[in-house]
Amino acid sequence: MEESSTIEQVYRGTFVHSTPQTPLLILEDALLGVNTHGKIAFIGEGKHVKRLSQDFKFSLSDVKQMAQHEFFMPGMVDTHIHAPQYSYAGTALDLPLLQWLNKYTFPVEARFEDLKFAQQIYNQVVKRTLRNGTTTACYFATIHTDASLLLGQIANDLGQRALVGKVCMDRNDSAKTYKETSQESQEETLRFIKELLEKKYPRVSPVVTPRFALYCTEPLLGQLGAIAKYNNIHIQSHIGETVDRMNVVKELFPDSKSYTDVYNKHNLLTDKTVMAHGCYLSDEELTLFRQTGASLAHCPNSNISLCSGLLDVRNVLKHKVKIGLGTDVAGGYSASMLDAVRRALETSKVLTIQNPGYKTLTFEEVFRLATLGGSQALSLDKQTGNFEVGKDFDALRVNVAAPGGPIDLIKDEHPKILLEKFLNLGDDRNIVEVFVAGKKVVPFTEKTQE
Ligand code: GUN
Ligand code: FE
Repeated sequence: MEESSTIEQVYRGTFVHSTPQTPLLILEDALLGVNTHGKIAFIGEGKHVKRLSQDFKFSLSDVKQMAQHEFFMPGMVDTHIHAPQYSYAGTALDLPLLQWLNKYTFPVEARFEDLKFAQQIYNQVVKRTLRNGTTTACYFATIHTDASLLLGQIANDLGQRALVGKVCMDRNDSAKTYKETSQESQEETLRFIKELLEKKYPRVSPVVTPRFALYCTEPLLGQLGAIAKYNNIHIQSHIGETVDRMNVVKELFPDSKSYTDVYNKHNLLTDKTVMAHGCYLSDEELTLFRQTGASLAHCPNSNISLCSGLLDVRNVLKHKVKIGLGTDVAGGYSASMLDAVRRALETSKVLTIQNPGYKTLTFEEVFRLATLGGSQALSLDKQTGNFEVGKDFDALRVNVAAPGGPIDLIKDEHPKILLEKFLNLGDDRNIVEVFVAGKKVVPFTEKTQE
């Protein structure tokens, strides 16, 4: 037998996931096998367990049977989170974006020059997001290269799949201590990419990260576009977050047709680009997203907490633009993707209140945004996002009736009801195990325990 087909784990029970065609597929009494490379080797019906055990050469006694109130779902994908801002998450939500950045964000991010502080906060944020079921995170770090490399190392050591960006910002007139020169920004981005790639972490990669158009000069934007292209790597930034900033971008870039055009002109819109927010993009701009393959990170907690706006996800989907969910900590105060799911549903309901004809997102659709949608938005859907054979097993084992947990059940509820209750009421007490590429990353091992 080939090494690649050696089965390491087999689970029997309920699996819920999404496909591009169907937002929620429920597989009851299913059997899923994971091979030694952490990939899904097969998924079949529980009643065929004998035949599958012969075909895939595992022993019946190795099958782990799940309880009736448990299910597996794909790990959640946080498409936009600021790791350093976790240090003040849950506070400082009283100002609109630009004032919020100046008063709270930049002074905090400046502290990440101190690697000890960075170590503490980055450990906390990776652990917290893993416990909350985030198997993949797309992180903004700070302008500091060494602390950003440390974030990559911590994600790797704790087993999270991660994209990590050293932030670039050579135009920040409001902060004397938190700014870099154009040359530093370019050189340090190159060093960051080189050193992170040299580590050969299997599931952690660098992202080119202009903070956003307003904080970068045009020459820097152009250089960053070229660096991303040369290295064929991801790009992340912010776009169309507030009305106010849409106007400032127009003033600063008078030759560009739109905010989206500013990024596109500098080769920053590719099929590996994820842009946060996009609340105020025109249909024309969304079309440009679709044409370039760029995606959006919908961050509803942040959009509401900073009074920025409401994203019309239905319109984004109509334009066939890839979209996932993001927590946007700390503009969004919660580091839980379950919170992002709830706020996305609420945002859609507010849009429905404003316009009674609006087709509210269903919980099944938002479940897909949090899983497969996020993987698509990060161009990782060949590896993750659902339970297709050949993909990595990135998964949460959910116990809806976890002792001491937040959910009460009545007898024999259908898995669809269990999932809906978990999405609306659940928390980390219900997430009993987390797997990334087949490896159990939660509960933490003794080595990773603090
Ligand atoms: N735009 C530029 N930087 C930021 C940030 O840190 N958070 C949010 N929400 N928007 C930004
Ligand atoms: Fe953000």
